[in-house]
Amino acid sequence: MKVFKNKQAVSKAVLELKSTGKSIGFVPTMGALHKGHLSLIQQALDDNNAVFVSIFVNPTQFNNQEDLKKYPRDLNADVALLSSLSKAVYVYAPTVNDIYGTDVVSSGFNFDGLEAEMEGAFRPGHFDGVATVVKRFFDIVTPDNAYFGKKDYQQLLIIKKLVKAYDIPVNVIGCDILREPSGLAMSSRNERLEPMYLQAAPFIYKTLLTAKTKFGTKSANVVVKWVQNQFKSHELLELEYFTIADAETLKPVKRKSNKKQYRAFIAVYADNIRLIDNIALN
Ligand code: PAJ
Repeated sequence: MKVFKNKQAVSKAVLELKSTGKSIGFVPTMGALHKGHLSLIQQALDDNNAVFVSIFVNPTQFNNQEDLKKYPRDLNADVALLSSLSKAVYVYAPTVNDIYGTDVVSSGFNFDGLEAEMEGAFRPGHFDGVATVVKRFFDIVTPDNAYFGKKDYQQLLIIKKLVKAYDIPVNVIGCDILREPSGLAMSSRNERLEPMYLQAAPFIYKTLLTAKTKFGTKSANVVVKWVQNQFKSHELLELEYFTIADAETLKPVKRKSNKKQYRAFIAVYADNIRLIDNIALN
């Protein structure tokens, strides 16, 4: 399996593949790969002749330097895992300099207010960083199809907007959330959880499931209050936000309409480790 360290080498390989009519899938990641990432890569392999997987812990999307420092990194393990998948997988693991040069900053983006909700509100500048790096990757890899998990649902919508705004010729495909048997959404951050917190964390998804049932008969407001109460009495998990939002605009729901799709979004701290999850409500 080929591991590329710089964009010139990637561009050359992409040109070669395209000149023989091969379609290209792209899965951007920050490494510490788990089955959630692999499900995206598998779908990309099913749909394309070649799949580029980027592994890059993007500094501009971290508003918390401690979180950036502690983000798990193990390129050798990731490469070993990917090389067992298929010969059609190509890894792009750039240096910060290869992506940003000496100017490690984000461009400013506007996504019709999507960037101001939830993750955007609690992680200022986060989506500018995500959009900056993904746009650079799209320019280098020029994929036909790109795969993003619904685990980061807001990110998926923002990338769809980015592609529209800049007329980038790529299909953005949203993939389902992969969960542990306990229901906990798979995440690179889970491996940092102490056993006690790992045991407590499935409470997040359990609460989302009950919230979904309640939303069938109750108002968004009542469900939000119920979830907030569940966490008030929890000893290990601290709720940052729980929001029921329009699945398209991500604006919090005021009054339910039969014509709209809704989703519930949650962010929780478990021992200083931030976990997010979401669920479709209808
Ligand atoms: P990362 O957190 O590594 O996630 C890479 C991709 O895997 C994202 O599209 C994410 O939604 C998806 N993913 C993570 N856990 C998943 C799960 N349990 N089920 C399904 N998909 C899952 O998201 C990022 O990296 C970065 O922001 C990135 C897009 C790479 C830009 O730096």
